[in-house]
Amino acid sequence: MTDATMTPDRSAQERRLITIASGKGGVGKTWLSVTLTHALSHAGRKVLLFDGDLGLANVDIQLGIMPDRDLGQVISGDMTVEQVVVPYRDQDGTGFDVLPGKSGSGALGNLTKDMLGRIRSSLIDAAANYDHVLLDLAAGIDPAVTTLSFHRGKILVVMTADPTSLTDAYAFIKVTIMRNPRADIAVVVNNVATKREGERAYEAIKRACEGFLKISPPLAGIIKNDAKVVDAIRSQVPILTRHPQSEAAKDVRALAATLVGR
Ligand SMILES: Nc1ncnc2c1ncn2[C@@H]1O[C@H](COP(=O)(O)OP(=O)(O)O)[C@@H](O)[C@H]1O
Ligand SMILES: [Mg+2]
Repeated sequence: MTDATMTPDRSAQERRLITIASGKGGVGKTWLSVTLTHALSHAGRKVLLFDGDLGLANVDIQLGIMPDRDLGQVISGDMTVEQVVVPYRDQDGTGFDVLPGKSGSGALGNLTKDMLGRIRSSLIDAAANYDHVLLDLAAGIDPAVTTLSFHRGKILVVMTADPTSLTDAYAFIKVTIMRNPRADIAVVVNNVATKREGERAYEAIKRACEGFLKISPPLAGIIKNDAKVVDAIRSQVPILTRHPQSEAAKDVRALAATLVGR
């Protein structure tokens, strides 16, 4: 990924990537990826959501869809990304495209770095057709996560107010910055009781980043704990459809508005 080999078009496409990462699992990455994608589509954006948690892909479950094709066919060379994407439409006809990480063909756990690099490259190619390409990644900092978050787009690091989520988010930011000092990282604090609690958690990670890494990632948004999130996931209907006026839905809409620059 050097400037010399990157045409201006491709570099602009690459900046359309938005990675959702966390370090720690279970902080709400998949729910946020689905909801943010949905909110961006309501804001008039054309969006592709890639289920990049290759071991435990579950975007399809939260959306209640059963894709009959997935990234496996792209990797085997049988299909292109365009052929594999599954359109998702809500009741008002608003929608987005999903690139399933796995379905019938099983999990894609152990891909080589070379293969992961090719997946990243096909996502950048696919970005020619979208305003945003969201990547829901696995927890941890293994090669699948670090390779798929190595790009010029945005990286949203999701954490909660839980101290272990802070240390894991910090570990993710550290490896990301070591690989790519110019990485465009912002923090999302999810599942907090109050805005104040979210601000405090953000201040703590900001202090760690400033002290040890000499960077100061901005706060992209705070999302409240909301029983409607659990209900929407259980019913396999996106929260913006099932509970559009819930606190968590409003918070994600605000985050989407920040991302589209309003
Ligand atoms: N804002 C929230 N309010 C309430 N519960 C939440 C919220 N965000 C996430 N959760 C809970 O966290 C669980 C894990 O979410 P998920 O998106 O699967 O996380 P991850 O992809 O990071 O592993 C959800 O099933 C839900 O119960
Ligand atoms: Mg997940």
